[in-house]
Amino acid sequence: MSTLTGKRVLIGLTGGIAAYKVCEVISTLAKNGADVRAVLTSGAQAFVTPLTVATLCRHPAYTDENFWQPIHSRPLHIELGEWAELIVIAPLTANTLAKLTYGLADNLLTNVVLASTCPVLLAPAMNTDMWEQASVQRNWQQLRQDERFHGVFPEAGRLACDRVGVGRMAEASNLVTHIASLLHAGGKQDLVGRHVLVSAGGTREYFDRVRFIGNPSTGKMGVSIAKAAAHRGAKVTLVYGSVTSEAVADLTGIRAISVTNAEEMHEHLLECFPDADWTVMTAAVADVKPAQKYGRKLPKDALPEALPLVPVVDILSELAQRKQPHQRLVGFAAQTGDIVTPALEKLRRKKLDAIVANPIDVPNAGFGSDTNPAVFIDADGNQSAVDSCTKLQLAHYLLDWVGKL
Ligand code: CTP
Repeated sequence: MSTLTGKRVLIGLTGGIAAYKVCEVISTLAKNGADVRAVLTSGAQAFVTPLTVATLCRHPAYTDENFWQPIHSRPLHIELGEWAELIVIAPLTANTLAKLTYGLADNLLTNVVLASTCPVLLAPAMNTDMWEQASVQRNWQQLRQDERFHGVFPEAGRLACDRVGVGRMAEASNLVTHIASLLHAGGKQDLVGRHVLVSAGGTREYFDRVRFIGNPSTGKMGVSIAKAAAHRGAKVTLVYGSVTSEAVADLTGIRAISVTNAEEMHEHLLECFPDADWTVMTAAVADVKPAQKYGRKLPKDALPEALPLVPVVDILSELAQRKQPHQRLVGFAAQTGDIVTPALEKLRRKKLDAIVANPIDVPNAGFGSDTNPAVFIDADGNQSAVDSCTKLQLAHYLLDWVGKL
């Protein structure tokens, strides 16, 4: 079951070309079992029709016409405001942003926001000059002081007006991930003031210019932890090795450092570690590297018959030696067969606060999968098993659990 199943999400569309991307968000939410309702402002209807949105929601889409018609037993804005577990306003125009900032309510959507208490996710989309206007920036900062309002920053790129700059609405997949996070955590910002350091992906230990020792890690688990922590208000640093481009497609708001091999990962993690409150090491670090490295591509017939290897530094063990009492250090152990015994051994050997044991020999788990079961183990050997769930859900469960350590 996904985080979205049965969740009541109200999507508010305002007038911007990015409304077409919101159709994909609605479609994904509905396909994943969410109960989706939508409200379109008059501006939004210039870009997409209520029929399009209603078809994707599998439910009538509401406009201001419905607001003023006495066809409902209770006022529509009250009904919708009480019904929603989460309101998503996407695309958010400068005009609606200003109204929300000042508590103005002159249409159905702004009245629904005032008549509700659930978290609101805002996804602005506008031309760069509009976005950078002092008034717009002031409103954006001010509105987000209110802990109900969460923001997905607009991205930089080519805009519909042919300008290249900041203002593109976040991609649909990014919005869906943020929505899933807010629904899981009930919109709580419990990690504000914390710095979470995460490592992700695999390391590549090059032998020559093209050949390396590596592993199939895609970075999905680590990136999910980084995003979940950021969605809950943490300052997040992600140090990632080889990953899929999809995994790191949207890291807005996260300080992301790309590395190739264990040595670089070691260097960056050591540098970031003193400032981190929680460090979660999901990276699949190669245990060994070729003893000799060639700066060119060796021809086939020059390849050695045997490849001498030397160990790479154990990054986690080294971080554990530098750990201060207020810091929490969590490792991951991808295992086959009995996952708990070797994970517990690693936790003790590396002197960690906790370790996450996860199987890589069961279906739909481990490297590259979207889901994972796991067992969380703390330094006293206490275990908490989590059934197979999405990596984003697992990330939230882990953050909840680390918070209680
Ligand atoms: N790890 C690390 N540095 C390494 C190897 C591993 O920091 N050189 C970290 C991993 O990121 C993970 C944890 O240690 O969080 C466990 O990694 P794993 O490869 O399972 O453990 P190893 O000690 O390498 O044991 P083995 O490979 O024998 O299972």
